[in-house]
Amino acid sequence: MRRIAFVLVAAASMASIAGYTAHAAKQTDGQAAPVFVVESPAGYRDFMLISVAHEAGSLNSLGAVLGNDVAIKAYRGKTLPYPDGTIIAALHYSHSPSEENDRIFGKPQSFVPGHPTNTQFMIKDSQKYAATGGWGFGHFGPDGKPGAETLMKTCFPCHAQERARDLVFTQYMP
Ligand code: HEC
Repeated sequence: MRRIAFVLVAAASMASIAGYTAHAAKQTDGQAAPVFVVESPAGYRDFMLISVAHEAGSLNSLGAVLGNDVAIKAYRGKTLPYPDGTIIAALHYSHSPSEENDRIFGKPQSFVPGHPTNTQFMIKDSQKYAATGGWGFGHFGPDGKPGAETLMKTCFPCHAQERARDLVFTQYMP
């Protein structure tokens, strides 16, 4: 039994190494190519709330940042770097005035999420995503389509500015 388990583990890790080298080999400059998240992680809508954010300016969005169990445990335990298996999801919506709520308040003051704009992910897998600080970045439009490569290449360089918190900007709100 132990032998079978060992063979399975060895096969699995060889497969992932082979996948990684195959991908990395495509690059000609000697640097490993970034690997992006190409599918939304299952069950992300049931993750727990980490925090919310509003971006003004051209984004003009409202966002909810959610984490899976591994993420929440790491946040609460202040564990850095985040362990493999961490998934952080950022659900973005338009920032829309609510006429319905304003009528109740009697003045224009209420803003709520409008239509979904995109969903972004950061998935920790220090082997698979070694080229981007151990984080796989994912971006999906409201139609579920992944972001174009030009967009995907912007994620890591910007997030890499947050070295002290392992590339994660959002802080846990009680
Ligand atoms: C110009 C810098 C910048 C770029 C480019 C960028 N982000 Fe972020 N991202 C941020 C900041 C700042 C926050 C926290 C504030 C917020 O949530 O709006 C954030 C938040 C996030 C979060 C929530 C976790 C966290 O770190 O706070 C995820 C997930 C995320 N971004 C994914 C992505 C993905 C995927 C891309 C590429 C498609 C991307 N980001 C591109 C700056 C950036």
